Amino acid sequence: MKLLVILLFSGLITACRGNSSYSLPPKLLLVSFDGFRADYLQNYDFPHLQNFIKEGVLVEHVKNVFITKTFPNHYSIVTGLYEESHGIVANSMYDVITGKHFSDMNYKDPFWWNEAVPIWVTNQLQENRSSAAAMWPGTDIPIRNTTPSYFMNYNSSVSFEERLNNITTWLSNSSPPVTFATLYWEEPDASGHKYGPEDKDNMRRVLKEIDDLIGDLVHKLKMLGLWENLNVIITSDHGMTQCSKDRLINLDLCINRSDYTLIDLTPVAAILPKINKTEVYNKLKNCSSHMNVYLKEDIPARFYYQHNDRIQPVVLVADEGWTIVLNKSSSKLGDHGYDNSLPSMHPFLAAHGPAFHKGYKHNTINNVDIYPMMCHILGLKPHPNNGTFGHTKCLLVDQWCIKLPEAIGIVIGALLVLTILTCLMIITQNRLSAPQPFSRLQLQDDDDPLID
Ligand SMILES: *[C@@H]1O[C@H](CO)[C@@H](O)[C@H](O)[C@H]1NC(C)=O
Ligand SMILES: *[C@@H]1O[C@H](CO)[C@@H](O)[C@H](O)[C@H]1NC(C)=O
Ligand SMILES: *[C@@H]1O[C@H](CO)[C@@H](O)[C@H](O)[C@H]1NC(C)=O
Ligand SMILES: *[C@@H]1O[C@H](CO)[C@@H](O)[C@H](O)[C@H]1NC(C)=O
Ligand SMILES: *[C@@H]1O[C@H](CO)[C@@H](O)[C@H](O)[C@H]1NC(C)=O
Ligand SMILES: *[C@@H]1O[C@H](CO)[C@@H](O)[C@H](O)[C@H]1NC(C)=O
Ligand SMILES: *[C@@H]1O[C@H](CO)[C@@H](O)[C@H](O)[C@H]1NC(C)=O
Ligand SMILES: *[C@@H]1O[C@H](CO)[C@@H](O)[C@H](O)[C@H]1NC(C)=O
Ligand SMILES: *[C@@H]1O[C@H](CO)[C@@H](O)[C@H](O)[C@H]1NC(C)=O
Ligand SMILES: [Zn+2]
Repeated sequence: MKLLVILLFSGLITACRGNSSYSLPPKLLLVSFDGFRADYLQNYDFPHLQNFIKEGVLVEHVKNVFITKTFPNHYSIVTGLYEESHGIVANSMYDVITGKHFSDMNYKDPFWWNEAVPIWVTNQLQENRSSAAAMWPGTDIPIRNTTPSYFMNYNSSVSFEERLNNITTWLSNSSPPVTFATLYWEEPDASGHKYGPEDKDNMRRVLKEIDDLIGDLVHKLKMLGLWENLNVIITSDHGMTQCSKDRLINLDLCINRSDYTLIDLTPVAAILPKINKTEVYNKLKNCSSHMNVYLKEDIPARFYYQHNDRIQPVVLVADEGWTIVLNKSSSKLGDHGYDNSLPSMHPFLAAHGPAFHKGYKHNTINNVDIYPMMCHILGLKPHPNNGTFGHTKCLLVDQWCIKLPEAIGIVIGALLVLTILTCLMIITQNRLSAPQPFSRLQLQDDDDPLID
């Protein structure tokens, strides 16, 4: 009965919406606040973000990919691929075959990005659709010869307000319409590195500023009439953990600098040996009890971090909170990049809009699951990827998914029905079998000599 009513109502609603929103293509805005550790949400106040979540969905932990750095994880979110498969395996890379270098100052060669196809490119190849970007890593580069129709060259000095103004202008009046847009902001990552996540006073101030920016975002979307029909995802690339100048691993104490080329340093060091690889490995493997040392071929399978030429022959992974250095002097108070199974490395995800449920909380997804979900929302055919669409079904209004309370309800309901049925059967059987002619037979069965 209840089901029938729900079906009737949803039918009516669909019929009413038939003309307006249904004829418009779905739109999605993907926002990243760099280095937004998942448990900031529990430990600090976010009035604007909590309002956003109240009317939408929250995924409390997003398991990101190893190494838990900025460029690699932003590319996994928009491709659904592990780092070994999309080719952005670090913020600093070296390609032995071509001799090319990649760094946050020198990232514009499409060579590095072309091993994958990000969602803004796929979206753009659809007829009558375009993409727009406000500084998401990779969006200012012609990947597969395609940039978003509207984008900004990366410049960290451009204010959030200007990024927001321009992206919302593109979302509201462009032809063909912008259906996929991204927005990137450098905080709270920069402050997390500077102060460390345990500096509550500074982090409280910085995170309040982030919450105010989210308030500005929602306000702006409402003013422009975009709020009701736009799907908005707010997420991040990684978390942050506390470091200390008392937790340093000094490679200079273990190996001569002329024995290797250092491609990336901390907390995951990429080592290209200049001498015998085994010798380099042997010098490093006992260097510190707070660091794992791997030959490339022995990197644990759970990292999905092996099958790419850009991963160097020797890889060092520091324990949480430890910093690899060459010089004792340098150290940050906060860092990320560590093992992706550490909760401190995980970001969160919140989403709001017609594609999402209202007021639903979910425990965890992988960041590679975001890509197939976004493709579904936009009606795009996803490229082969490492995500699982099923992991995100509970977040979406158009998907059937059994949530835990419902599952418990269904099980209890089924047990009740079974119990009642059993009782009824016993009662009716008792009535039918009043003279009990079988009880003797049963007794005889029990006396079967074979059982002895
Ligand atoms: C759809 O729009 C057309 C023209 O705007 C209108 O005539 C028609 O009644 C609308 N149908 C519904 C179901 O709203
Ligand atoms: C693209 O837009 C044009 C003009 O608005 C329209 O005639 C055409 O049918 C659209 N194509 C698709 C595939 O929606
Ligand atoms: C934002 O838009 C304004 C107005 O069109 C333009 O002048 C400005 O250059 C844009 N900012 C960026 C960073 O692209
Ligand atoms: C970066 O943005 C700032 C602030 O808008 C501007 O003054 C500066 O010229 C920009 N730099 C480049 C290289 O465009
Ligand atoms: C490091 O190696 C270079 C070249 O082999 C050598 O000259 C230097 O003395 C070595 N330094 C140390 C500290 O072993
Ligand atoms: C590297 O060193 C190991 C042991 O030190 C040795 O067995 C191996 O043959 C060497 N490899 C090369 C290519 O020299
Ligand atoms: C290095 O580690 C190995 C295995 O853990 C151990 O057997 C060896 O004694 C260590 N050597 C030094 C110099 O610490
Ligand atoms: C080591 O530290 C000194 C002083 O801080 C600095 O000048 C030098 O560049 C550092 N060397 C390396 C290889 O980082
Ligand atoms: C990830 O996806 C890519 C593309 O489908 C595939 O080539 C790769 O084998 C996948 N990785 C794993 C570990 O399944
Ligand atoms: Zn980052």
